[in-house]
Amino acid sequence: MAKYKVLGIADNEETRIDLRRRLGKEEEIALVGFAGMNTDVLTKINGYAPQVVLLVNETSNSGVMEIAQRIYQGFPGIAIVLLTQTNSTEVLNKAMQSGVRRVVSIDEIDELKNLIVQAAIFEQARAVETGREPRVVSIYGASGGSGKTTIAVNLAVMMAKSGRRVALLDLCLCYGDVDLLLNINARDTIIELVQEKSTFNIDDIKSFTMQHSSGLTVLCSPTSPKYAEYVTQNHIETIISVMRPYFDFIFIDLPCDLSDCTLTALESSDDILLVAKRDIPNLRAAKAMLGIMTTLQQQEKIDLVINDDGPSVLSDADFERVLEIPIGHRIPEDPRTAKKCQERGEPFVISEPRSSLTMAMKRIAKYCIRKDERRTSN
Ligand SMILES: Nc1ncnc2c1ncn2[C@@H]1O[C@H](COP(=O)(O)OP(=O)(O)OP(=O)(O)O)[C@@H](O)[C@H]1O
Ligand SMILES: [Mg+2]
Repeated sequence: MAKYKVLGIADNEETRIDLRRRLGKEEEIALVGFAGMNTDVLTKINGYAPQVVLLVNETSNSGVMEIAQRIYQGFPGIAIVLLTQTNSTEVLNKAMQSGVRRVVSIDEIDELKNLIVQAAIFEQARAVETGREPRVVSIYGASGGSGKTTIAVNLAVMMAKSGRRVALLDLCLCYGDVDLLLNINARDTIIELVQEKSTFNIDDIKSFTMQHSSGLTVLCSPTSPKYAEYVTQNHIETIISVMRPYFDFIFIDLPCDLSDCTLTALESSDDILLVAKRDIPNLRAAKAMLGIMTTLQQQEKIDLVINDDGPSVLSDADFERVLEIPIGHRIPEDPRTAKKCQERGEPFVISEPRSSLTMAMKRIAKYCIRKDERRTSN
């Protein structure tokens, strides 16, 4: 399981020992180190790059709010949690003004771990410009049922769990099922967004997205196919371009059609994972899709993913010869794990961390990150 990195800020050695004892063995938290309540803090934050700073104010040190303020202003994206002796109204007010996300009084110390995780998840969901170009990755497959949604959901959750800011857009406008696989009650969807607003900024979009417990931001598809026609390619283009600066990765789950909306999403993407099963209908559909992508000069973005990979008359060489691109990734066949994820709404990257499907997702996630780093360093 990915852990939230926490940097403790406390002068007292006994406090540090106590926090190590409380948080050291937690699965969701990595207590990476401590800094003293002085200028050392900012250097340590730069070094450790934590997602959460846990400030401990034992002696009602007045400098603590000043430190919180400097972290808040200098390090957008870090959640500040303040552990205090008392959470009087005065302390709460000062903490709020200083950018503290959560004040935890000593009486709530048993809840500390949960409150830290909560603060990290909320901070991840906050609309803060990341200051870097995100990667927009579409998951497409020319044949129905090739595993697009399974891959999109698990890849996005895995990236979000690693502390990155990640969004997943369900652009299967007729029969989207991302909400099912994530067990999300889709109160708002892309339809409410485009019907209520003629133009929208990031706060508008955020108010129609749902938050998954992994920290993933999800824009759900319409609840009925009859609404699909209300979403236009202009909407898709605007949503992607408005969201871009606020996320490290945006994943898009697409249907197998080539409607204007799907094409707009593909053209707005930096990478396309073309998912196919190892059979003749999938091979033929992938070939047709690649032809269109070549005409649109989008073929360079494509990585071929063979999913649900089991015995077949078609070899790797057959696929690569017909499609004229190499196989980028193989995801093994594991119907039990895949089904469980679908039926329980639990991504297998969380509930089955050791499964072969999770291992395959890890490889794809690493590949996406490497590609992003290569591009940033060029
Ligand atoms: N690697 C795998 N091994 C076994 N079963 C899989 C695998 N990947 C996906 N499946 C199963 O295949 C079925 C289709 O998967 P999924 O819904 O992700 O496909 P899709 O391409 O999104 O379908 P659609 O075209 O309808 O949107 C599901 O029952 C899923 O559990
Ligand atoms: Mg699907």
